[in-house]
Amino acid sequence: MGSHMIRQQQMKYPCSFVFSGIMLADEIPMFTIQADGPHHVQTLHEPIGVAGQIIPWNFPLLMYGWKVGPALACGNTVVLKTAEHTPLSALYVSKLFLEAGLPPGVLNIVSGYGPSAGAALASHMDVDKLAFTGSTETGKIVLGLAAQSNLKPVTLELGGKSPFIVCEDANVDEAVDLAHLALFYNQGQCCCAGSRTCVHERVYDEFVEKAKARALHRVVGDPFKKGVEQGPQVDSEQFEKILKFIRSGVDSGATLEMGGERFGSNGYYIQPTVFSNVQDDMLIEKEEIFGPVQSILKFKDVNEVIRRSNASPYGLAAGVFTQNLDTANTLTRALDWTRGTEIGG
Ligand code: NAI
Ligand code: MG
Repeated sequence: MGSHMIRQQQMKYPCSFVFSGIMLADEIPMFTIQADGPHHVQTLHEPIGVAGQIIPWNFPLLMYGWKVGPALACGNTVVLKTAEHTPLSALYVSKLFLEAGLPPGVLNIVSGYGPSAGAALASHMDVDKLAFTGSTETGKIVLGLAAQSNLKPVTLELGGKSPFIVCEDANVDEAVDLAHLALFYNQGQCCCAGSRTCVHERVYDEFVEKAKARALHRVVGDPFKKGVEQGPQVDSEQFEKILKFIRSGVDSGATLEMGGERFGSNGYYIQPTVFSNVQDDMLIEKEEIFGPVQSILKFKDVNEVIRRSNASPYGLAAGVFTQNLDTANTLTRALDWTRGTEIGG
């Protein structure tokens, strides 16, 4: 068989296999594919080379694991830039990697600011692939920098305004608990937060009362203390931005059920906040708040909630609460969660 008959399809890694956070290096498949005639056809997976990675501050250690794990498991080297707010955990774990015997130079951590260190990585000619998690605005910048330099492929995981849909047949108590967790988890600083709580009109009033009661019991304080559910926001910029969103919710006529102010007088703590009667044209319904602010919307039927949920430039995640499999399947297929954002590493 002449070498010209050997076809190889090269699949590039690191792949987007990050949602589970687990990838087993020895599980990377190597396929031979049946061919017509005397040809040998195989799929060869090979490392892509230098993986550049830029991560945000909201889950510093988790983001590090999601990005570094798959890239190293697939045989790449890594240059990772941490967020300027949260540089320490990545440095610490990387030191452990060295101690465990990872060869020097395979994993490199850069602590620095976005427009300098981050932009340098995104536009570097020797970086073969870029993975970015953060704001949509910065995602557009790094995609541009990659295009203007060596056209490195870019994986983006950006913002969201994800609907959490509670249907009329839902177990309201369970739905309230999960909707609470989906929004308030990590102080609301979560890309896939369920930040549009859409509730069927038949269970709306009951849901709002119970959501409010749950939020009233949320324990805010020093996150290092046992039993505390909510700590401060990451910095003054985020703190001010969230308070501004809350003011805009009040000004645009949403009903402030509870919260709405800073919590205490020290630090960037914000009261767990619940809005009801939120309308589609309000800023708090459209923009990513990234804070402990729950917006509860009312809907009448499934088609309406599909249309309204999809009327957003975001499309990262969605949640559906129903006991009816037909409704679950309909919503799962109809909701658009791949628009404008991509899950990947
Ligand atoms: P950001 O997207 O600006 O920062 C994320 C990372 O990108 C950081 O490491 C930062 O240093 C880097 N970066 C910033 N500018 C850059 C540039 N010009 N070139 C290359 N890298 C750059 O996010 P930021 O400003 O901290 O937060 C703003 C908003 O973004 C938040 O209020 C929130 O709505 C959203 N956000 C979403 C996240 C998510 O997980 N989806 C994470 C963090 C923020
Ligand atoms: Mg920024």
